Amino acid sequence: MAERILVTSALPYANGPVHIGHALEYIQTDIWVRYLKSAGRDVIYLCADDTHGTPIELNAAKQGLRPEEFVGRFFEQHQADLGGLDVQFDCFWSTNSDENRRYAELIYGRLKEAGDIARRNVEQTYCETDKRFLPDRFVKGTCPNCKSPDQYGDVCEKCGKTYAPTDLIDPRCVLCGTAPVRKSSEHLFFTLSKHADYLRELISSPEFLNPGVAAQLKQFFEKGLADWDISRDGPYFGFAIPGETDKFFYVWLDAPIGYIATTEKWAKTTGRAKNALDYWRADSGSRIVHFIGKDIVYFHALFWPAVLKEAGLKTPDRINVHGHLTLNGEKMSKSRGTLIAVRTYLDHLDPSYLRYFYAANLGSGPEDLDLSFTEFRQRVNAELVNNIGNLANRGLSILATQLDKKLAPAGEGPGKKLVEEALARTQEIADAFERLEFRAAIKAIAEISQVANQFVQVQEPWKKAKTDQETARQDLSDVADVVYLLAGLLQPVVPRLSKKLFEQLNAPELTYAQIAQAKYPLLDRTRPIGQPSPLIGRIEDAQLQKLIVPPEAPAPAAKEAKKAKEAASEPPAEIEYADFAKVQLKVGKILAAEKVPKADKLLKFSVDVGEPSGPRTIVSGIAEAYPEPEKLLGRNVVVVANLKPRPLRGIESRGMLLTSGPGGKDLVLLDPGPMPPGSDVK
Ligand code: MSP
Ligand code: ZN
Repeated sequence: MAERILVTSALPYANGPVHIGHALEYIQTDIWVRYLKSAGRDVIYLCADDTHGTPIELNAAKQGLRPEEFVGRFFEQHQADLGGLDVQFDCFWSTNSDENRRYAELIYGRLKEAGDIARRNVEQTYCETDKRFLPDRFVKGTCPNCKSPDQYGDVCEKCGKTYAPTDLIDPRCVLCGTAPVRKSSEHLFFTLSKHADYLRELISSPEFLNPGVAAQLKQFFEKGLADWDISRDGPYFGFAIPGETDKFFYVWLDAPIGYIATTEKWAKTTGRAKNALDYWRADSGSRIVHFIGKDIVYFHALFWPAVLKEAGLKTPDRINVHGHLTLNGEKMSKSRGTLIAVRTYLDHLDPSYLRYFYAANLGSGPEDLDLSFTEFRQRVNAELVNNIGNLANRGLSILATQLDKKLAPAGEGPGKKLVEEALARTQEIADAFERLEFRAAIKAIAEISQVANQFVQVQEPWKKAKTDQETARQDLSDVADVVYLLAGLLQPVVPRLSKKLFEQLNAPELTYAQIAQAKYPLLDRTRPIGQPSPLIGRIEDAQLQKLIVPPEAPAPAAKEAKKAKEAASEPPAEIEYADFAKVQLKVGKILAAEKVPKADKLLKFSVDVGEPSGPRTIVSGIAEAYPEPEKLLGRNVVVVANLKPRPLRGIESRGMLLTSGPGGKDLVLLDPGPMPPGSDVK
């Protein structure tokens, strides 16, 4: 039986939208998986949302949501955004699931049985006002070393010194601003120290981990491998630890177990395995490969294999570590607007550009990758649009317009040689994909296209089509063969462009499994080609500039209100009925209404619009007109239901409430009458 391969990407935190840095990982993994599938291998690609921990719990609270509700919002969004990039999971699930709870408890039970769980008192920073222990990032104060103010509790961003939160001068709880105290509590530890020899040997295998990355882990062994604190005191959003009171698994314990939980979910949904253990049993014979960024190596290469081994489960066979994405040579930053959300990217650009650029720059190592706008534009326009896109369009267009779309049978001339030389390079390309040397694969593919373009340049089929049609047909049919081959070779990288080419050639998909056996001619020459059209347009600089949106810049409420006011002073132009029909108006019922702290004009509503996904949060600038918002509970309102969600004071507002009146105190909410929530307003 063929080897069963299970591939994962790290689980994105359900704490915000995914950005183009995350995308580097999901695209890298997706390309590899698509390559393996095309080569006929038995492989599945799994991922999930990582939902637990203090930051998520507190962000949910900030928005007045239960954590389950908060993470629920990202569940669909992450899949839609990554799907928009043509990242195709066999299953995407969640760590906040029954499957994950079951496997977390199972594994913890086995560790305990094996005598691998120790108890120890830990002294930690505690806020008496908030009644909770504070993770390092939730304490700020003045650095004890360089005296820079406003530094986090673990490390000073100015001088780089690391310390304990209580070493800070004048430490403060970031939640409430009061000074925290030290408090002791009992924690559970996984005795990682016992597994030092096993781990040292594991990471020294280049099959398992890149040697450069492994070398960086050696420092942990030199200091002596410390045991791992796997418990957190409540309040904590996570799984309660069986047999303990008010103790929860630390998010990083159950996060990787999410890989197993997702396997279980996949097995149940597809029926392609009995359960997760078909892959994760120690003797399953499967191959498990994790893709991660360089910031989370410690968890994946040390804790995770030790936990799995001790629990009698299969340990990973390989951990692929990639570097970080930088933008125009700098670290991406939320405040500068350079942490580009995948959604923003997709609003302006085709995913194929980004997939091509990442592939063209990725090797198998952990080096950082820079997305320089200039290089992005130049490289993609030169290679994907001009070299590959034009070869296809130029060749197929002449066949379509001047030669009845008919192909010539196999020939014996220079075109045959062209195809055979291209075929001779395909093994090298397949190997490069397999070894994650995408850069080398793309280089070879671009060269094949370049040689074919030179062939067209020399043969001048556009001239011959007028004087010597059959020679032109022969040359172009052989060029079409190369285009077909390129479509197959590029399919893991730019699947939607390959699909387009297969359609234009009127030919079935060409897989790596077929390419490995392929001989000239590749296309069935008795079939006419389809309808050619340009493969993809150029990237324009103006599109790239739109990607950077500093959070202050749109100041949506104020700026749009001003624009609306200006527009209101002159009668608006007539619109077509079709324009009006684009606006979806619905009856909503107000379930909750409250003031938004520190925003005089804003009220936050929870509005039932009859959707199965539950009520929507809508922020509206009508606080001055309704000083007692609680009185609005149960009222019916008119909701603009298909307005793009937008953040207002850090709250995502999903829709707009219609009002009438000049503004300020003089506004009333429109009343649609006693219709059920979700009714159309037309
Ligand atoms: N939730 C954890 C992973 C748990 S896996 C059991 C986590 N989440 S994350 O959302 O912060 O990151 C998810 C993945 O994206 C990580 O592998 C991380 O390295 C990667 N990246 C996040 N920012 C990145 C860049 N700027 N560049 C490249 N990869 C990036 O960590
Ligand atoms: Zn506090």
